Amino acid sequence: MKSDIELGRLATVGEMMGNISHQWKQPLNNISLLVLNIDQTYRKGNMTLEYMEDKVDAIEETIEYMTQTIEDFSDYLSPKRSKQNFYINDSVEKAMELTMPMLNANAIDIVFYAEDDYEYLGRKNELTQVLIILINNAKEALMKDAKNTTKQIMIQLEEEGQDLILKVKDNGLGISEKIKDKIFDAYFSTNENQKGRGLGLYMSKKIIVERFRASIFVKNDEGAIFTIKLPL
Ligand SMILES: Nc1ncnc2c1ncn2[C@@H]1O[C@H](COP(=O)(O)OP(=O)(O)OP(=O)(O)O)[C@@H](O)[C@H]1O
Ligand SMILES: [Mg+2]
Repeated sequence: MKSDIELGRLATVGEMMGNISHQWKQPLNNISLLVLNIDQTYRKGNMTLEYMEDKVDAIEETIEYMTQTIEDFSDYLSPKRSKQNFYINDSVEKAMELTMPMLNANAIDIVFYAEDDYEYLGRKNELTQVLIILINNAKEALMKDAKNTTKQIMIQLEEEGQDLILKVKDNGLGISEKIKDKIFDAYFSTNENQKGRGLGLYMSKKIIVERFRASIFVKNDEGAIFTIKLPL
């Protein structure tokens, strides 16, 4: 029979597998879009060395992100590994780069406005993971909004008093009051088609609270606005 500690560890490993497979969906999708791109460009006779190199670089970067994501999750089991100073701006740009093929394929515009460059102590990749989740959710919300012909995601970074404020806004339909209190719960999802498992926001909140000692909340404006408040 397994001891409680062993069972606890198995549960954590199981949860980790679920988390990693959630976090790998986006980069895997990214790689398949890039490969399709290479294939189609070659068949149309438009392939150049520069184009090829560009796409191969993007694939390599995506694979590197996937590797880093596994390492970050292993850190949950051995949390001693040290944090580093990184630029929040870099983390946002990375998340945009990794979601760009998907956003382009769905005619969604994304813009990033930062008041300044801001350094922060933590793990850059973990913030990137959260941003990818928020961008993905915004994309899903926008795709449900059939009448919207100018689908847009806006990311904003600024200093406010003792905090850095990082906002991810979309111009979709927003989040109804009825479900607002539930969206950060594990396994809460309004995506009926089994596509969503309701883990994205749960994991985001976990990373933001436990790893960054910060907070995340949501409001509606034009669409949904997710705000991450990072204490300075
Ligand atoms: N930008 C948004 N606009 C409108 N609703 C949103 C937005 N982001 C999240 N939601 C709502 O919150 C729910 C939970 O989001 P979450 O990311 O946790 O799960 P999911 O996207 O449904 O599934 P998963 O992320 O596991 O694939 C969504 O199903 C959706 O109803
Ligand atoms: Mg999600």
